[in-house]
Amino acid sequence: MLAEATEALPHAIIVADMHAPGARIVAANEAFAQLTGHAREDVIGRNCRFMQGPQTEQDAVRRVVESVRCARQGQVELTNYKADGTAFRNLLSLQPVHDSNGVYRYSIGVLSDAATLDEGGREEVERLRRLLPTQHYFGSSVVPPRPLVVETLMRESEAMHQKLVSNDAREGRGVRFGGWANIPSDVAEWHASMTAGADGCPFGVSISDPKQPGNPLVYINAAFTKMTGYRGDEALGRNCRFLQGPDSETGAVEVIKESVRQASRCCVRITNYRKSGGVFQNLLVIQPVLDSTGELCACVGLQLELDSKLACEAFHNSF
Ligand SMILES: Cc1cc2nc3c(=O)[nH]c(=O)nc-3n(C[C@H](O)[C@H](O)[C@H](O)COP(=O)(O)O)c2cc1C
Repeated sequence: MLAEATEALPHAIIVADMHAPGARIVAANEAFAQLTGHAREDVIGRNCRFMQGPQTEQDAVRRVVESVRCARQGQVELTNYKADGTAFRNLLSLQPVHDSNGVYRYSIGVLSDAATLDEGGREEVERLRRLLPTQHYFGSSVVPPRPLVVETLMRESEAMHQKLVSNDAREGRGVRFGGWANIPSDVAEWHASMTAGADGCPFGVSISDPKQPGNPLVYINAAFTKMTGYRGDEALGRNCRFLQGPDSETGAVEVIKESVRQASRCCVRITNYRKSGGVFQNLLVIQPVLDSTGELCACVGLQLELDSKLACEAFHNSF
């Protein structure tokens, strides 16, 4: 579907599958083949780094990787190479695409030869990027799609993560959290400052300890208790799967499992159960945290109830 839609466009477009190892290209349109000279069948299945070469700016590459990894929209200009070896300035616009469960599935790249673009041309590329889909629905989607709410809350959760991390960074402690490059040198100190920031947070915040068998929760905030009905003495020491039940989506559980295993961030929508037995839709972001040796030392979960007043406010504020 995505591939067919890009075919009609005059701009060079590639689509990378964020679930495939190495974020492989799954689609490239005819305009891409014309711009780069690479035959489409030669690029499918490869990571885009084959377009880089000796003059490619490493800080620009880092910005691209950051945008792709953190599902951020972005525009980066960098030196790339065509199939015949000639260099060109590539104005690369990136657009993340999520599925109807809020799971990050694809990254779309729009490539342009910056040397051929005047101001109007650049604006046109940006307009095109904004028109690209940010949601992609799969036939097997278990829950009806609610694209704007999911997208808005993902943005909200990202902002919340950034705020929590900024508190930490301001106090001189670094955390590798989403796009943040620093890592905590003292895990106990990080934990104390993180939980101090999360206590009054309006969203559910939970932290687990993956070094303990079963990855049990070691912290939940008041909003988690309010949303789920579970107090600290009932939730701590247990794996958070106690919130799942018969209607919880197995696909979402698999994504979480993979995220913890690979220490990469994920965002899923999952049907969860309160202590009372009531069902709610949980937009869950899981962010693994690495210690100064690069080892996984904590997983932070951010829980947002999709039908809550907070979610509705976030939805309305997005207009
Ligand atoms: C910090 C953290 C918070 C989590 N929060 C939730 C949650 O709110 N709802 C949920 O269904 N699963 C949540 N999980 C996922 C489960 O704990 C578990 O990792 C998932 O079910 C996959 O593992 P399993 O297949 O062994 O159950 C969370 C996991 C972590 C690490």
